[in-house]
Amino acid sequence: MPSDAPAPAAKPFGSVFGKYMASAVFDGEAWSNPAMVSTKELVLHPGTHALHYGSSCFEGLKAHRQPDGTVRTFRASRHADRMHSSAQRLMLPPPPPHLFETMVNETVANNAAVTPEPPGSLYLRPTLLGTEQNIGAAARPSRTALFYVLASPVGQYFSGGPLRLAIETKLPRTTPQFGMVKTGANYAMALGVLHEAKQRFGADQVLFAPSGYVEETGAANFLVLAGDTIVTPPLSEGYLHGVTRDTILSVATTLGFSVDERPLGVPELLELASSPDTEVVLSGTAAIVAPVGTLIHEGTEHVVGGAEHGSRTAKIRAHVTDLQQGIVARPEGW
Ligand SMILES: Cc1ncc(COP(=O)(O)O)c(C=O)c1O
Repeated sequence: MPSDAPAPAAKPFGSVFGKYMASAVFDGEAWSNPAMVSTKELVLHPGTHALHYGSSCFEGLKAHRQPDGTVRTFRASRHADRMHSSAQRLMLPPPPPHLFETMVNETVANNAAVTPEPPGSLYLRPTLLGTEQNIGAAARPSRTALFYVLASPVGQYFSGGPLRLAIETKLPRTTPQFGMVKTGANYAMALGVLHEAKQRFGADQVLFAPSGYVEETGAANFLVLAGDTIVTPPLSEGYLHGVTRDTILSVATTLGFSVDERPLGVPELLELASSPDTEVVLSGTAAIVAPVGTLIHEGTEHVVGGAEHGSRTAKIRAHVTDLQQGIVARPEGW
């Protein structure tokens, strides 16, 4: 069935919404059966736990139109697992992975008609909120919760060219215990740092490298394509375990890359980046891979690699989009 979706490309990513979302509540003991509801304003009590004490987390994944016209999610189970662990860290009732996947699939089915043709897709935003109405509950978790899956038809995410990244070695993106949690406060914490880097250096993003070792940016993972080796920091509790990062590393060998997961200090990064054979990219669900053109360290600009390149970045992007769009077969369970 071809899409009858209006092209969302003209609107900013994430600002157009599908009409339907799956929704379920946890009443303190069990999850309700999911319902399909209209995407409209939520009715929340002003004393809702999430509004005061930050008990909320979310996921971000995509569903893509396949060659036979059906719409299929990409690696939803991995996102279900990540939300489960985010919820546990926030002391929220975790939606069981089968509930997560059922609600994501139902949301996709109900919004399939507005899912654009590739390179567009349906971006999905599963969201979990602590809903207990109690402003005296700062020191204990919300007993109740709301879980919904919002849908947004999106076009291709254009970054507008290679990014300028300011390297931040003093401030962390978030606290150590929340690095791998996808919760709003982490993004709020990075905003001021990003704002300053934009003002001072015209930076697009900040690469957080607390203690001098690279972690990630405010909303993406970080990879260096040094010749045919992908160098990236090893997973730690300090940063978000990106599904796109995992996808890239999983298919690296097929694409002729070797993978070197190791701590990457800023001096070594700058040295690697100066080689004409190096490309630097950010990875994430929205953009898949976004090329980095300039690293800014202590006010000095370092241009990445040679001028006109990007063939390795393009090769990775093409393979990941082929997997997502069902043009090449996916590994079992993806
Ligand atoms: C802080 C942060 N790191 C990394 C990522 C990349 O994760 P993924 O590839 O699962 O989208 C994201 C995007 O969700 C993010 O917000």
